[in-house]
Amino acid sequence: MSDAPRSAELFARAQRVIPGGVNSPVRAFRAVGGTPRFMVSGQGPYLTDADGHTYVDLVASWGPMIHGHAHPQIVAAVQQAATSGLSFGTPTIGEIELAEELIGKLATAAQAHGTTSPLEEVRLVNSGTEATMSAVRLAKGVTGRRKIVKFAGCYHGHVDALLASAGSGVITFATPDTPGVTSAQAAETIVVPYNDLAAVEAAFAADGPDIAAVITEAAAGNMGAIAPKPGFNAGLREITERHGALLIMDEVMTGFRVSAAGWYGLDPVAADLFTFGKVMSGGLPAAAFGGRREIMASLSPAGPVYQAGTLSGNPVAVAAGLASLRLATPEVYVTLDATARRIGALATQALAEAGVAHRVQYAGNLFSVFFTDQDVTDFAGAQAAETFRYGPFFHAMLNAGVYLPPSAFEAWFVGAAHDDRALEIIAAALPAAARAAAAAARPGAA
Ligand SMILES: Cc1ncc(COP(=O)(O)O)c(C=O)c1O
Repeated sequence: MSDAPRSAELFARAQRVIPGGVNSPVRAFRAVGGTPRFMVSGQGPYLTDADGHTYVDLVASWGPMIHGHAHPQIVAAVQQAATSGLSFGTPTIGEIELAEELIGKLATAAQAHGTTSPLEEVRLVNSGTEATMSAVRLAKGVTGRRKIVKFAGCYHGHVDALLASAGSGVITFATPDTPGVTSAQAAETIVVPYNDLAAVEAAFAADGPDIAAVITEAAAGNMGAIAPKPGFNAGLREITERHGALLIMDEVMTGFRVSAAGWYGLDPVAADLFTFGKVMSGGLPAAAFGGRREIMASLSPAGPVYQAGTLSGNPVAVAAGLASLRLATPEVYVTLDATARRIGALATQALAEAGVAHRVQYAGNLFSVFFTDQDVTDFAGAQAAETFRYGPFFHAMLNAGVYLPPSAFEAWFVGAAHDDRALEIIAAALPAAARAAAAAARPGAA
């Protein structure tokens, strides 16, 4: 299956008209080498490429597809919405329903934990990037302060101020400070190690009166899967509150995936603002940010902080998101958790048998493999792993019909449609992939 002539031909054609041939860098396979596969269809846990090869998909469109591809009820909801009109640029009923659904999910989790939900109002946008960008602007507007604290290796989308030492594509392409982000913008961002409350305290000791907000991934998924240490998110809440800064919990990746209420459902830390995307969109472009009423009331037109969007709350995207969230029963989360653990255990078994030092790490049902014998708690640890083993591992899996994230720094995503057959294909693929990882040559080695 290493042969993908049609994808190769399409990639050559794409590179003539699209920078690097892709519309988001990690898709280009540069971290693993080889030809990116052009997918033509998806069904349940499978993707089919332009050469007719079928893969078990462990990327899930980078998170959204918790019910698998082309789920009939989501497709039907989209078709029905599309028939009624694609976009109006007016308020619609679906937007209220989606906002109520998001707020309701966190309220249910808050109640179960004997607390009240910090999510009272949400604004719909089109992408996770737009959600974090808007949340940061709102935090700066509300506090009248100009600086943001973020964590090395956490990725919050390609927002200028947040592209300092960011994860994912930026790690992959080794451009920690991308050209185009000015030094003035970067100077407003303080980057500290993940899981390090002392570093956050030090940042506030140095710059406290200027810090508008701390933004964190609710659990890190963009440098591989790294859960916050127990008490880390709560510690951020305490420090920010003490200094009059806001806490922005980025749940774009974890939201409505790791539990019905995202990471908040597992660890109910009352952030001031939350950002959501991916699962809440059902696979179409939709995202959101929200928080307590008194903060959201500063947003235009209720308040002075401007934010807008021609396609925000698009009726078709809203219909997909609503259908996806309504299908997400408690059983779905039991399945996602169990499937993640089963695949993680299979990876551990194969890598142990091949003698490859590794850690399979989980953040809820997000997980990833680090080629190291140390637990990984931050970006420095993720970078210290033997990432050169990932390319051969990835390609052996691909050749055996398993589509993994094409970068060692990405989480693996499962869906509720991953059944026994899909797991058998993964189990059959892993031993050879583990041997390929074992045989991988360290760069620069003779
Ligand atoms: C935690 C997190 N925040 C924000 C984003 C940006 O979302 P989008 O790619 O929809 O702009 C991502 C994307 O992967 C993410 O993982």
